[in-house]
This record gives sequence, C-alpha cells and structure tokens, in this order.
Amino acid sequence: MDYKELLNLAIRARLSAYMPYSHFAVGAALLSDDGAVYTGSNIENAAYSPTVCAERVAFFKAVSDGKRGFTAIAIVGGKEDAPPDALVAPCGVCRQVMQEFCGNKPFDIILGGSPEQIRVYKLSDILPLGFGPDSLK
Ligand code: THU
Repeated sequence: MDYKELLNLAIRARLSAYMPYSHFAVGAALLSDDGAVYTGSNIENAAYSPTVCAERVAFFKAVSDGKRGFTAIAIVGGKEDAPPDALVAPCGVCRQVMQEFCGNKPFDIILGGSPEQIRVYKLSDILPLGFGPDSLK
C-alpha cells in the first residue's frame, strides 16, 4: 500500500465524519504492520468532551481488532463542505495514542490535502521525548 493510496482512503473516510458542532471533517487511514487498513472519522457529541478524533477512532478500531503494530497513518481534514486542507496535523491527545503503540519503532504520519501534495513526518519529530510504555519500565 503506497502513501497516496492510504491518503485516498483517509479522504474517503472523511466523508463519514459526524461533526454537527465544529463543521470540521477529519478522516484517517491507519496502516497495520500486517497490511490491513483501519479508517476513522471524527465523531462529535452534544456534550462536546466525548468527541473523538478521526485518528483515535482508527486506532481504537484496529486495537480492538487485535492489532498492535502499525507503520503509518494518513490524515486529512478541513471545513465540512470544502476540500481537505493542505495540512491538518494530529492533536496532542492523538499523538499520545500513537506513542502508546508506535513509539518504539519508525511510524510515518502522512499529511496532505490531496495525494499530489503529501508530506511525511515521523512521530518522533512531532512528539519528541514522548512518554510511553517504556517510560514505566
Ligand atoms: N479533530 C480530529 O478529528 N483530528 C485532529 O487531529 C484534530 C481535530 C476533530 C475533533 C473535532 O471533531 C474537530 O476536528 C474540530 O476540532
């Protein structure tokens, strides 16, 4: 699975975003180390704080399916009725969830508004000195 294809899956997942409060739609596609892809979209709530980001929906779907190792995640976001923005970076809470499962080996974060404008970041670049499972040993 190349990263353009993964970004296209995130773009498609974004169509399922439930975001009646922010009107900001996000999609994510998470690549498991066995080649399976888990997608997610943001899911908001009238009480606001139960809102879950697209990235965490993708991670929790995968982890609850028994997956533990991942190689990359593609993320796209932007205002409801507009095409995805060029760069929507994951929030701090989602970075911390990535650290839990991906902090001990290379993990790519693919951002971009379209498959033609992709940027790839390492988790260790966007979450330096992360606190993770190894920190408790
Ligand atoms: N959101 C995500 O899904 N992922 C991010 O990385 C940033 C923010 C969602 C949460 C909320 O539903 C909306 O975008 C506005 O913050």
